[in-house]
Amino acid sequence: MIAGLDGVAWPIPIWSRRLQYKKSRPDMSDTVPFGFRRVELGAKQAMVDDVFNSVARRYDLMNDLMSGGLHRLWKSAMVSALNPPRRGPAWRLLDAAGGTGDIAFRVAERSEGHAEITVADISVPMLDVGRARAEKLGVAGITFCEANAEALPFEDGSFDAYTIAFGIRNVPRIEAALSEACRVLKHGGHFLCLEFSEVDTPMLDRVYEAYSFQVIPALGRTVAGDEESYRYLAESIRTFPNQERFADMIRTAGLERVRYRNFAGGIAALHSGWKL
Ligand SMILES: C[S@@+](CC[C@H](N)C(=O)[O-])C[C@H]1O[C@@H](n2cnc3c(N)ncnc32)[C@H](O)[C@@H]1O
Repeated sequence: MIAGLDGVAWPIPIWSRRLQYKKSRPDMSDTVPFGFRRVELGAKQAMVDDVFNSVARRYDLMNDLMSGGLHRLWKSAMVSALNPPRRGPAWRLLDAAGGTGDIAFRVAERSEGHAEITVADISVPMLDVGRARAEKLGVAGITFCEANAEALPFEDGSFDAYTIAFGIRNVPRIEAALSEACRVLKHGGHFLCLEFSEVDTPMLDRVYEAYSFQVIPALGRTVAGDEESYRYLAESIRTFPNQERFADMIRTAGLERVRYRNFAGGIAALHSGWKL
């Protein structure tokens, strides 16, 4: 019953109850994909954190096993495209969602120690593995920092380059992360994103599909003792925007001269943009 202006209680008509029901249903625009499921936007980050906190110790080994070492070639290609200087004025890189430091170590080597590198990641266990690797390899000049790519704790225009490898599809608010990338870059700064993408080669897409959903979760179970996390990783690749749509998102964030190139028929793609 609802109270009328005259204070008399009226029965709620059926159409109005339907309207109220519709209004109380969760707004799908507040949900985001977590693998093939849709979850509340505010809940996704904690679920992603569970995945990476769980796989951190076996993460590097699993990357090699899952990709047959291909991820190393793609990461090296990303660092070649970055082409960090070996001398000259100070040159600062932010490697967002940098995890265990794969990109950072390559940049440190290629720049012969000249680059000042910050690895920012939301997962402390992933950063801990990265710090231990840096110590073991005797690599200096890398700062490991706990930070959310959606709200970076750095001043505007702090970095000459921003990289993110296989990280952005895990971030709940991709647009927010792209706009933060643009904010922390200097004018003239380079943005590079390596991410799994859409396979555009007939037959390869079928083989890749079977591999992703049958072999990868089984490898996760056997090697990392965690099938679910690796099922999420495979599913999250399918729900990430394809090459063209992602390029548009990068442009919308304010970056210019956006281009991409595919690796292995689109299994991965490297997007590049500039803050001009
Ligand atoms: C697949 S790993 C990639 C790690 C590393 N870049 C590499 O290529 O090996 C994804 C990383 O994204 C991080 N991550 C997820 N959400 C994040 C967020 N909102 N901000 C920063 N890092 C995030 C995870 O903790 C994880 O370390």
